[in-house]
Amino acid sequence: MPASPPLRVAILISGRGSNMASLIEAAREPGYPAKIALVLSNRPQAAGLATAAAAGIPTASLRQRDFPDRDAFDAEIGRVLAAHAIDLVCLAGFMRILTPGLVEAWRGRMLNIHPSLLPLYKGLDTHERALAAGDAEHGCTVHFVVPELDSGPVVAQARVPILPGDDADSLAARVLGAEHALYPKALAEVAASLGPKSVP
Ligand code: GAR
Repeated sequence: MPASPPLRVAILISGRGSNMASLIEAAREPGYPAKIALVLSNRPQAAGLATAAAAGIPTASLRQRDFPDRDAFDAEIGRVLAAHAIDLVCLAGFMRILTPGLVEAWRGRMLNIHPSLLPLYKGLDTHERALAAGDAEHGCTVHFVVPELDSGPVVAQARVPILPGDDADSLAARVLGAEHALYPKALAEVAASLGPKSVP
């Protein structure tokens, strides 16, 4: 049987986009089951948009303040995703909580990377909280997105040690290195298990 075409993936970012860059690089490998077809940001000044454009990937940015409410904003995100025939969405440092309507429309087809060993430390300041708790290890999680924040089924996790003398910055850097290895592997696993998204 001929190999199926790679799934079309959109990456949603708000800033630096280093996880996005690791996904773009992985998807360049022959045989990778996903193609990065769009990078969308809720912040037009996000540095990751320039990185994506330089890699030849279509980009879009939408600002919440140009829409009357969150539902209208997320409806537009849904329209942009459909217009690019997206099959699967990866949140990568996308610092907005999506409305349940959009999340439900993408159930089983939307991934997020979170910088903790979920279910520990949902939300913000995960590195500070792991240090304050005196944990011996920390890490990152790729999970399916559900309406409840940082709570969907886990696809994959990576662990890193917390070392004497660590502060939030040194720990964040160690976790970020693990994120860059984990997300491409997790996306490949999920993309290989799915067919194209049918148009609703
Ligand atoms: C990453 O550490 C990611 O796990 C985190 O933001 C950073 C984005 O960095 N995401 C969250 O905290 C989501 N709640 P990046 O823009 O360089 O990929």
